[in-house]
Amino acid sequence: MTREWVCVLDFGSQYTRLIAKAIRAQEVYCEVAPPTLSAREVQERAPSALVLSGGPRSVYEPGAPRLDPKILELGIPVLGICYGMQLLAHLLGGRVERSPHKAEYGVAEIEIAEDDPLFAGLGKRERVWMSHGDVITKLPPGFRALAHSVGEGSAPPLLAAMRDEAGRVYGVQFHPEVHHTPHGPQMLHNWLRRICGLRERWRPGDLVGQRVEELRERLEGKRALIAVSGGVDSSVAAVLVHRAIGERLVPVFVDTGLLRKGESERVQGVFERLGLPLHVVDAREEFFGKLRGITDPEAKRKAIGETFIRVFEREARRLEQEEPLDVLVQGTIYSDVIESGGAGTASHAEVIKSHHNVGGLPEKLGFELVEPLRDLFKDEVRELGRALGLPEEIVDEQPFPGPGLAVRILGEVTPEKVALLQEADAILREEVRRAGLHREIWQYFAVLLPVRSVAVRGDGRGYGYVVALRAVHSRDGMTADWYKLPHDVLARISSRITNEVPEVTRVVYDITSKPPGTIEWE
Ligand code: XMP
Repeated sequence: MTREWVCVLDFGSQYTRLIAKAIRAQEVYCEVAPPTLSAREVQERAPSALVLSGGPRSVYEPGAPRLDPKILELGIPVLGICYGMQLLAHLLGGRVERSPHKAEYGVAEIEIAEDDPLFAGLGKRERVWMSHGDVITKLPPGFRALAHSVGEGSAPPLLAAMRDEAGRVYGVQFHPEVHHTPHGPQMLHNWLRRICGLRERWRPGDLVGQRVEELRERLEGKRALIAVSGGVDSSVAAVLVHRAIGERLVPVFVDTGLLRKGESERVQGVFERLGLPLHVVDAREEFFGKLRGITDPEAKRKAIGETFIRVFEREARRLEQEEPLDVLVQGTIYSDVIESGGAGTASHAEVIKSHHNVGGLPEKLGFELVEPLRDLFKDEVRELGRALGLPEEIVDEQPFPGPGLAVRILGEVTPEKVALLQEADAILREEVRRAGLHREIWQYFAVLLPVRSVAVRGDGRGYGYVVALRAVHSRDGMTADWYKLPHDVLARISSRITNEVPEVTRVVYDITSKPPGTIEWE
């Protein structure tokens, strides 16, 4: 198990988790902890270095989150970022004030005044991301300025980086952890390797041993249940917990009938091969029954969410008859957890976005909830999945909505329409893969429209279904660009769909980016 690690004390910044991620990307293990830790607690946890995060408050406000000043006497290297830097200045005898000029938000340029290991390998001027209204107007005794932001017009330069004499305490006013600071990774590398002298190389796969150990302890003597969807998050959570408690984990797979072609069998096969056979609940008829006659997209989502809870709860109760169950495992990951943020809320209150497929389960079932991936980002979860031996087909799977094909069939969902869409979608996927583009395109799928369009077949005229093809590029699903599929690939897809799925007589390509068009059609 790794010994070197960095502890980020969270003063409530929206970027705190990004700091942890950026440090882990430098192959140093990192965890986030509350700022209320005492010096003794920090000493017990024995981090190799500490980061004080940003935060929405002003250090001179009453009630603003503080740091046990004895922590600074432990001899552990410290990096304060934004609020963290101001807190250092405040605690160590400097002065922090509201900026007399305008606050700095957004991209700024800093001028590096001094050769320092923190900026090794960088130029004299660097682009950084700023987000603060307070400034340090007097350095604490023994500190020196390393960089200033380049003021606009007559605005004076503001302190952008400082360090103490021994090089143990550093502060930066900007955010090296966000991608708007292009050389942020280099600065963090410099701090971790050159300044803190960390040597070990941590990989996300190392988390396996650590988390398995923690789960084994936490779940001792308990039986757990998990709903596996075939997506990467629930699959990784299931395999991880299985590694810890073996057959005391009961994985349940609810077949809603709304998955892509062959998906249900594929997921079952993968888990079979992993030595973790799934309890399959065939609830297709129940789902189609509940969806009958519903055309409103939100009503469809609601019906699916409620049906899922009912089916899963029934199965849980049935399994409980065999042996008691104590814990519900969920594959919640960090992007599912929305920080409440905002002024006055540096309380780390976090709210879970309700997943359409599993929302409401924990309350309903009354089990203890365990979320072993809650602090990880998607790419870290994928890496963990690889280290656990999950196949690429699961680890690299494109996003798929909880309510499944129901959001890709506009209007009423029927088994016949699902079967049509599954065929058209399978053709699209096959052709994208054949063209070698499947790794390049973030998400691609077919949509069945609720209109009929005129068609000629032989000598006759008729009305057939319209299928829309959607393929997008995206980083995180928040914004997306439509993908320029080559014309010959589009031609093959169109020709195959209209030949192999005769009910479909027209194929169109969606050339809308997000915003304004969402990725799914709903
Ligand atoms: P939109 O359509 O809002 O989708 O642009 C953004 C991303 O989210 C996926 N999506 C969902 N994922 N449960 C999920 O887990 C859902 O209910 C859901 N709805 C949309 C969508 O596929 C896209 O990647």
